[in-house]
Amino acid sequence: MDSEKQVLKTSSTYTPEAIAAIQERAELGRYIIRGYGALRNVPRFDDLVFLTTSLTRLPLEGYREKCTTKTFIGTRYAKRPMELEIPITIAGMSFGALSYNAKVALGRAATLLGTSTTTGDGGMLPAEREASSKLVYQCLPSRYGFNPTDLKKADAIEIVVGQGAKPGGGGLLLGQKVNKVVAGMRTLPEGVDQRSPCRHPDWIGPDDLRIKIEELREATDWEIPIYVKMGATRVKDDVKLAVKAGADAIVLDGMEGGTAATQSIFQEHTGIPTLPALVQAVEALQEIGVYGEVQLVISGGIRSGPDVAKALALGADAVSLGTATLIAMGCNKPVYIEDYHKLGTEPYHCHHCHTGMCPVGITTQDAELMQRLPIDEATTYVANYLQSLVMEVQSLARACGKSDVHNLEREDLVALTLEASAMAKLPLAGTDFIMGQ
Ligand SMILES: Cc1cc2nc3c(=O)[nH]c(=O)nc-3n(C[C@H](O)[C@H](O)[C@H](O)COP(=O)(O)O)c2cc1C
Repeated sequence: MDSEKQVLKTSSTYTPEAIAAIQERAELGRYIIRGYGALRNVPRFDDLVFLTTSLTRLPLEGYREKCTTKTFIGTRYAKRPMELEIPITIAGMSFGALSYNAKVALGRAATLLGTSTTTGDGGMLPAEREASSKLVYQCLPSRYGFNPTDLKKADAIEIVVGQGAKPGGGGLLLGQKVNKVVAGMRTLPEGVDQRSPCRHPDWIGPDDLRIKIEELREATDWEIPIYVKMGATRVKDDVKLAVKAGADAIVLDGMEGGTAATQSIFQEHTGIPTLPALVQAVEALQEIGVYGEVQLVISGGIRSGPDVAKALALGADAVSLGTATLIAMGCNKPVYIEDYHKLGTEPYHCHHCHTGMCPVGITTQDAELMQRLPIDEATTYVANYLQSLVMEVQSLARACGKSDVHNLEREDLVALTLEASAMAKLPLAGTDFIMGQ
């Protein structure tokens, strides 16, 4: 009901945010670009809880009883599958998007924990190869920096069809981040904006993808696994097609997945959240009878031990982390406040990776800013963070009575909201009701 009184009213359509967005576009004459994944609220792992043991089941004793974390990825065809000590991997983030120090620190931290890290658009940094005991080499539509010499140095190959932050969209690296070294690795001019294509030049469908996978297998003598990474959209069909094309493992990135730069319309308006994406991918693998044979790595917005444990319980073999590892090394830390202000933002709200002016030296190629990220310190922070995640996952698994984190199962979980119940196909807590079934 309208009031006669003079009160401030806000339109639900033209909210202050919508007004600012229209006026920003009116000034710029183009779309908005930013880093990070979707900022909107979506159903997530927080909406699930574990039914840990009480009388019906027995918990394991943390001090005396083991809870193992060993993880294998790529057991389908590769002679040398990826053998990881923990079910947590580090996602592909390009040198160019990330600074040299950040890349090396990620490699060293992964090595300390016995897990893998991944290259990114733009190729393999020699120092990253040296720092990482297990390195996944990405094969992207851009082919920037992709070459047979580095291919032979890889421990696994990841064919990137898409990313959760921008499924259907290509990559973006603004000129301010394209310094001499980055430009050299990509054989592109310095200081010029780089746009990576959104589709591979080598195939137009799954049949061609099969040929590409075979080519990569031959080139690496069937030694190492080949993953296919996708943004989560039509998950069931995409997973089945990737498996048919010969993938050893599927890496699936939900809409919360981070990026260093893309159009904000992609982050907010494309793809599906990680939670339902994971559930659909597991179903797809089960429907074609390859669940357990083709491993599933899930990513997109995974931040905590409970997130990891819930992903495993829902059927993932491992998770992959991007943004959270950057936060562990200091992304959005309340230091160098004036530099956040220069970008028009504040600590805890910064997603300005695209500018190349990262106040904490992570997403920059500026030599002075990068000095703010000492490699040893960043390595310790990431390693500590990963270690703490593992301990949290083990604690939850033991409390569920499991002696291996991979024994966590759907039966251990219930949903707190109707949305999560529908998407995860789990009963609403305290009921037998599964929304939509
Ligand atoms: C700084 C940054 C750079 C990235 N660069 C790449 C890339 O080069 N190739 C790629 O496949 N994904 C890239 N990604 C996406 C990650 O591989 C991963 O899918 C995503 O970060 C997972 O979501 P999370 O950040 O919420 O953990 C990048 C992500 C970030 C944050």
